[in-house]
Amino acid sequence: MGIEACRFIEFPIVHDPRGNLTFVESNRHIPFDIKRVYYLYDVPGGAQRGGHGHRNLHQVIIAMSGSFDVVLNDGHRNHRYHLNRSYSGLYVAPMMWREIDNFSSGSVCMVLASDFYGEEDYFRNYQDFLDAVAEKAAKK
Ligand code: TYD
Repeated sequence: MGIEACRFIEFPIVHDPRGNLTFVESNRHIPFDIKRVYYLYDVPGGAQRGGHGHRNLHQVIIAMSGSFDVVLNDGHRNHRYHLNRSYSGLYVAPMMWREIDNFSSGSVCMVLASDFYGEEDYFRNYQDFLDAVAEKAAKK
């Protein structure tokens, strides 16, 4: 799966003068079973998160409040996405290196993930990630 597999997903909005409501359901709006939810908050100005890749994990990243940028890299191509809507999520396929930066103050980055936390699923080193991308391409 290359970077073209990553895309914005729009969630339903129930408009209401008392405040809008959005919901997301596993395997309907989210293209996997949600096994874990985590969120980044109290992010200091200028901070960068991410800086890793995942072997098998699928994720959807949502700006629940404020805004930030997600930069995805599939080993060949880079794309920067600006997230600033709580009714839209960025689907991140496995085997993507990601950086998250440009956080606005008070922003909250929520991530829906297809599996429990497991350090063995991470690439922490960019060269290891590139080597794995090349190995997968050679197997095809
Ligand atoms: P990491 O995924 O490296 O954060 P980011 O990519 O946002 O910078 O995780 C930071 C630390 O938090 C790391 O020590 C692992 C731990 N962690 C968990 O224990 N459970 C989780 O679900 C996540 C996402 C991280």
